[in-house]
Amino acid sequence: MRNSGPVLLTGGGVRKPGPVLLTGGGGLLGRTLASQLRERGFDVHSPLRADLDVTDVAAVGAALVALRPEIVVHCAAATAVDRCELEPQWAWDQNVVATANVVGAARHVGATVVLVSTDYVFDGASCRPYRPDDTPAPLGVYGRTKLEAERLLSDSDLVVRTAWLNGPGGPSGGCVVDTVLSLARAGRPMAFVDDQVGSPSFVADVVPAMVELIGLGASGVHHVVNSGTASWFDLARETVRVAGLDPGLVSPVATRDLDPPREATRPAYSVLDCSDLSPLGVGPLRPWRQALRDLVAGSES
Ligand SMILES: NC(=O)c1ccc[n+]([C@@H]2O[C@H](COP(=O)([O-])OP(=O)(O)OC[C@H]3O[C@@H](n4cnc5c(N)ncnc54)[C@H](OP(=O)(O)O)[C@@H]3O)[C@@H](O)[C@H]2O)c1
Repeated sequence: MRNSGPVLLTGGGVRKPGPVLLTGGGGLLGRTLASQLRERGFDVHSPLRADLDVTDVAAVGAALVALRPEIVVHCAAATAVDRCELEPQWAWDQNVVATANVVGAARHVGATVVLVSTDYVFDGASCRPYRPDDTPAPLGVYGRTKLEAERLLSDSDLVVRTAWLNGPGGPSGGCVVDTVLSLARAGRPMAFVDDQVGSPSFVADVVPAMVELIGLGASGVHHVVNSGTASWFDLARETVRVAGLDPGLVSPVATRDLDPPREATRPAYSVLDCSDLSPLGVGPLRPWRQALRDLVAGSES
């Protein structure tokens, strides 16, 4: 896919956008994205897995023929990075076959597709933030299957790569910030790697930027992450500090010293460059530390 500028859906006039089918609406990102798209006036249909399993080609085809959406926002995915490594066929089915089903059915009804992808498509060897058109080279099954999914889209579709997502917990479970807070509140020490650096990001900021991009009819590959960089150790320690708990509970560890070692290799550096959003009038997203403060405050209220 190549990058291209925005395409206004309204064509200078006011046109009510057609229906949106959003997959993965029970997940960390999809839940908030569905509700903010609705607030923006989109008619969003967001079946849960029990009602629409995206690995079922017939079910996906039937759902799209019944709804005839203008846009399909595909958030559903296998996101358990280590499980993907242990069960590559499962990861392929959830991330590649499912996306092929969605894209095929979308083509059939003339819908554009919005796919959420990941910083883990990169190998971490860069010494500057990754731009959308940098060459991906995933290190693990999760990143490889997400990259294969990206490659199923066409130039008129939209890929949003985000990273290290945190947000209010829900039925699919919590995020790293939730985990850190519950361990720290229980007074339990924890270790986080300090040699993997990325772009900690927050649903509260990523979702409005995605809604903007979707509203503009943007296409191509775009990176949407909060400003600033951190290691997992930095993120965990800042979380504990902001919550007024004991930062001494969080200690750094090198990836090679993790015990037990993780199944999947993660990139050592996966900071994403979002500078191509500015010409579209989107972002920049605020610094991750500010977003973290709001998330922690929300978890205390
Ligand atoms: N979380 C991150 O840090 C992060 C970073 C970069 C990119 N992303 C991408 O962002 C997107 C959303 O991630 P997330 O963090 O919101 O993930 P999540 O919380 O794990 O949510 C994924 C959702 O997809 C659903 N799903 C999975 N397989 C399905 C299937 N076969 N049929 C129907 N629904 C299915 C899940 O349903 P169940 O609850 O029933 O399993 C869940 O509701 C994903 O594409 C992910 O790759 C996430």
